[in-house]
Amino acid sequence: MCGIIGYVGNRPAVPILLQALRDLEYRGYDSAGIAVLDGDGVSIAKKQGKLVNLESALSNVPAGTVGIGHTRWATHGRPSDENAHPHASCDGRTMVIHNGIVENYASLKEELSARGHAFRSETDTEILAHLLEERIREGADLFRALRETARRLEGSQAIVAMSLDEPDVLAAARLGNAGGVVVGFGNGETVVASDLAAVLPITQEVAFLADGQVARVTSGGIEVATVDGDPVRLERKRIPIDPVTALKGQFPHFMLKEIHEQPEALADTIWSLATLDPAALYFDDLGSAAARLAQVERVVLIGMGTSLHAAMLGQRYIEAFARVPAFADNASEFRYRDPVLDGRTLVISVSQSGETVDVLEAMAVARAAGALQITVCNTEGAQTTRVAEGTVYTRAGLERGVASTKCFTAAVVALYLLALRLAMAKGRVTEAELAGHLSDLAHLPGAVATIIARRDALRGRAIQLARAEHVLFLGRGLAYPVAMEGALKLKEVSYIHAEGYAAGEMKHGPIALIEPAFPTVAIATQHALRSKMVSNIEQIQARGGPVTAIVTEGDDELAALCDAAIAVPPVSPWLEPVVAVIPLQLLAYDVAVHRGCDVDQPRNLAKTVTVE
Ligand code: AGP
Repeated sequence: MCGIIGYVGNRPAVPILLQALRDLEYRGYDSAGIAVLDGDGVSIAKKQGKLVNLESALSNVPAGTVGIGHTRWATHGRPSDENAHPHASCDGRTMVIHNGIVENYASLKEELSARGHAFRSETDTEILAHLLEERIREGADLFRALRETARRLEGSQAIVAMSLDEPDVLAAARLGNAGGVVVGFGNGETVVASDLAAVLPITQEVAFLADGQVARVTSGGIEVATVDGDPVRLERKRIPIDPVTALKGQFPHFMLKEIHEQPEALADTIWSLATLDPAALYFDDLGSAAARLAQVERVVLIGMGTSLHAAMLGQRYIEAFARVPAFADNASEFRYRDPVLDGRTLVISVSQSGETVDVLEAMAVARAAGALQITVCNTEGAQTTRVAEGTVYTRAGLERGVASTKCFTAAVVALYLLALRLAMAKGRVTEAELAGHLSDLAHLPGAVATIIARRDALRGRAIQLARAEHVLFLGRGLAYPVAMEGALKLKEVSYIHAEGYAAGEMKHGPIALIEPAFPTVAIATQHALRSKMVSNIEQIQARGGPVTAIVTEGDDELAALCDAAIAVPPVSPWLEPVVAVIPLQLLAYDVAVHRGCDVDQPRNLAKTVTVE
């Protein structure tokens, strides 16, 4: 959480910092601030609330060409002007921005206070400015000061600092998994940011800091060392940029735009991993994992939120196609429960950002146990791709809406194909069967486009659901993760309380909630468990609960049974989750808009969760 940007170059820094903060605002939007070196001094502006507040408060725009900026998701200290970053040292000469949590904050604060430092905010970040000030006073340059400061910190951090004592230098550090630090190399200018969204509009030439690395950043490039001072050479990469995905275009919100992008995102993901004629799979980024797939005896899939729901579907695909025992787990639970893993366990992490702290920590647990790792990730060069032996990239393009949509469906099809790849390695799928699966997939983008084109027909349903205080989502089999995802989408963007349940669980408690004001959305497409779902729907209706069902086109019998039905085109039963989730995404969006919610920046949330 929190967006970080630093710029050192030949152009006025303020417009560049503000544009970068606009590109990063989805990472946090409690407050924002910038600091720019200006002649012999520094100009700092900070404002509580969204970036627009900061922009309207900027009266004198300094012309300096070195600066830092931050958009905050509060951890220590409430959102306020004082707690907004950047934070300055007592002498006002050193400024820092930060993402993460200084876990030994209390003892460091006590120590610094005893040495006479005065604190102006409630944040843990301010500690860093005071620690840097002490090192610089002792004679260290900013680069060394940050390395020495880093050694005193507990917890995960991403830090960028600047100092009036070295006005053409920034220092940046990545410690643990508090989000990435990416450096962008331009023409006579260098940027350092928490993610690619802020860097790519400036340059496509980038490098990523790894855990424990600190960089000295100047307009000519970087020098990198470990926190202990050992020099490091970073590999530079050229990242392809798709300028269209970064803009809202004709859409009022990123979420709606990204829902509409799904047919293309699915096609890009599918055909980057497979061909129809010949029917074949191409996993170019599996690296050393490819040769070890045949030895895999067990698979654990990990993720958080929407990515966990994709992982739950991956579990079902792997068991069905490869007949290997598979289990999907919440990464934040997995990492703390001393899981049983060995060299024949494949751990598949699913993460849109590739920077989610719980996923990265869970991967560290898996690595320590010697498990083979593959990550399913949408972000080129993200940390999960650097930890895992192999990567399956989803090709959904940049996702900016905090509510994940296209990255969910892209991850589901990537996992479907990965399950087939594992099944091939295990000899459990014939070439003819593979051809059948790929031909099923070929129809999927078109089916998704058909549903999206019917959005207007869903609006009436959305207006009704918008009045509810609680909504239940039910599914069985492959529709169970879809029910979970439908509930998550609704609650995060509309603030309506929603729960996703396995329909069979209903009678074990939740049915007590059913009454006329408590609507249910039942995912009842034509899968093998449809008849069981019909019984569940009847049980709810018998207790006066209104039911909206997601049904397969032509299933008039079920449509007639329910209070409302939303039909989706027929696809292979394995792919029903992808078509069934589209109306749930659209419903969540329209309900949220109807309730006047901030769809792209829901309260309390941030796109990438880099703190525990
Ligand atoms: C989804 O709409 C979320 N906002 C959230 O649950 C997200 O999926 C989760 O934080 C995981 O993120 P990741 O895929 O980047 O790891």
